[in-house]
Amino acid sequence: MIPMKFSARDVSDVFAAASQCAILPIFQGKSLSGPALKIDRASSGSIKSALALGDFSGKPGESLMLPGTGSIKRILLLGCGNPKDFDRGAVRKFSQRLCSALESKQAGEATLHMPGMGLSEKESKWMLAYLARHLTAASYRYTETVSNPRKAMKLARLVINIDKTITTRAANSALREGNAIGLGINEARNLGNLPGNICTPSYLSRHARKLARGCADLSVSVLEEKKMRELGMGALLSVSAGSEQPAKLIVMNYKGGKTGDKPYVLVGKGITFDSGGISLKPGAKMDEMKFDMGGAASVFGTLRAISELGLRLNVVCIIAAAENMPGSKATKPGDVVTSMSGKTIEVLNTDAEGRLVLCDALTYTQRFKPAAVIDIATLTGACVVALGSHATGLFANDDALADQLLAAGTDVHDRAWRMPLWDEYQNQLKSNFADIANIGGPGGGSITAACFLSRFAKDYDWAHLDIAGSAWNSAPKGSTGRPVALLTRYLMDRAGL
Ligand code: BES
Ligand code: MN
Ligand code: ZN
Repeated sequence: MIPMKFSARDVSDVFAAASQCAILPIFQGKSLSGPALKIDRASSGSIKSALALGDFSGKPGESLMLPGTGSIKRILLLGCGNPKDFDRGAVRKFSQRLCSALESKQAGEATLHMPGMGLSEKESKWMLAYLARHLTAASYRYTETVSNPRKAMKLARLVINIDKTITTRAANSALREGNAIGLGINEARNLGNLPGNICTPSYLSRHARKLARGCADLSVSVLEEKKMRELGMGALLSVSAGSEQPAKLIVMNYKGGKTGDKPYVLVGKGITFDSGGISLKPGAKMDEMKFDMGGAASVFGTLRAISELGLRLNVVCIIAAAENMPGSKATKPGDVVTSMSGKTIEVLNTDAEGRLVLCDALTYTQRFKPAAVIDIATLTGACVVALGSHATGLFANDDALADQLLAAGTDVHDRAWRMPLWDEYQNQLKSNFADIANIGGPGGGSITAACFLSRFAKDYDWAHLDIAGSAWNSAPKGSTGRPVALLTRYLMDRAGL
């Protein structure tokens, strides 16, 4: 993959620098922008004539590629609709259209002319960050296990022509932010897309060590099963019991902040394959359970983004990695295991394994005296039933933390929706034979799963993101990289960016 480069500057003379493609946003019922007028005149009125002929009207989502003129090789007109309707939704559509118009073209470089768009500084920044993120993500290809992967996008450099409404510095920092988030998203997608026979818990721990080698602020330690046994992590170990693959608890410590500043802790569910264990899943779509480490993948992706940005914040990332398999040593329904917290758990269903690995990781998290803890997990099919794939399910024991996460998700359009964690639901987790059961019956499955986790997260502000619906697409199959954008935005907000 060619890394995409973004830069913003004032390009007053649109013909001064050669460009393989001049991208011109065109609004309906608004006269052409300064750069568009100049290019139109130089190309004997090609833009005005396309508008007059009705080949292009500036409707949202519309695009038209025209031959270039002088040092400009191509002209791409992109419809922006009515100026007063050009909101963030329209900006997203605009950037999708821009991507798909250039995806199949040979242009290695393009210039987007923003003067005359009439955006405020705030909205210009938002647009630049979104564009950089979107283009970076659009350039991702899964290559690892295919002989002839889909061709990479030719576009490798995007220059943004800005006007006085935004400083070059602000524009470039928005581009850098968007690019970092895009790279984080791609990191998460790639890990998620890897098959379960490659992406094992050991693979994830090697991957963590590799990341640490490239980043001075990052240190990594991995707890092996022996150490976990000493710590009493009976819940986590009960999940890997049936697998040849040893479980790993991966701890990545990012020290971007001051020593002594309380860290934000991200805990990712890293089930590298979820067969269901003895409570075996049905065969249909079982392959998709390779994505059951999507929470872990999003933690890796977020770490990638914040280290790319050099965020001045302390962040501890914990990955609870295991493979859930049946076997003669596997945990059986009815088995009772003892968690690190000392609470005993009746494993009524071995397919409710995410909460078993996470509860010990959450107990382990206490030692970091966290500012806040967020776990991210493809935890329940019930969450997909409740929210589909558009919203991540959000649960929290602290309203301020919940609001911060909701706001971050809304801002970057990686949205979450809050679900209840009322005491009444806790009753569904009663067990006759242990302190708590690992399933809560048929109703409110994503809520009782969150309730289970909440029992292990009492000592700090905690939120849980159920990404079972948002982390991957079924058609075409692939990891989405969510909620890297939400998490990165949340952490940037904490760092005052
Ligand atoms: N990894 C699954 C959740 C899941 C299901 C994610 C479908 C994405 C799509 C999780 O480990 C699981 O199996 N949960 C069970 C819980 C049940 C046994 C209480 C489920 O959702 O069916
Ligand atoms: Mn499961
Ligand atoms: Zn699972």
